[in-house]
Amino acid sequence: MSAASAHWPAWHEATALQLLAPLLSLPGPLLPALHAVQAHFGFIPPEATALLATTFNLSRAEVHGVITFYDFFRREPPGQRIVRLCQAEACQAMGSEALAAHAKAQLGVDFHQTTADGRVSLEPVYCLGNCACAPAMMIDERLHGRVSAARFDALVLAGESA
Ligand code: FES
Repeated sequence: MSAASAHWPAWHEATALQLLAPLLSLPGPLLPALHAVQAHFGFIPPEATALLATTFNLSRAEVHGVITFYDFFRREPPGQRIVRLCQAEACQAMGSEALAAHAKAQLGVDFHQTTADGRVSLEPVYCLGNCACAPAMMIDERLHGRVSAARFDALVLAGESA
């Protein structure tokens, strides 16, 4: 049984099979399948590795290798909100490294970690397509630009919505 999260559905094999069904005929279906699993369950549960291997006739090691190769795929349930800080070049030029240091200090976590209260997962991302408004940040599916330390605090710590 996978680790449970109050904010994401528990692992359910039949649901996962439904997610995978439309992908069966794709060439190279593993990456879209991993995206689909994570989008639904919030992370890639250990049970998914075996199911994906069986479904796509791959070894578990192959599936595990892809999951661990890409930073994007989580192997633990995420927090209630996922905060992604852009660390790519344009954002770096506008202070994203200092913003990341601020975020880590305020939240008490490093990248790829979740706060002890389970409220926030902090992740790096490499370009959100918002370079003109660097430094950029995404909270769940919402994009924010020109993020200062004060704006980060208001959006992430105080939970402002805009
Ligand atoms: S480099 Fe950060 S949004 Fe493009």
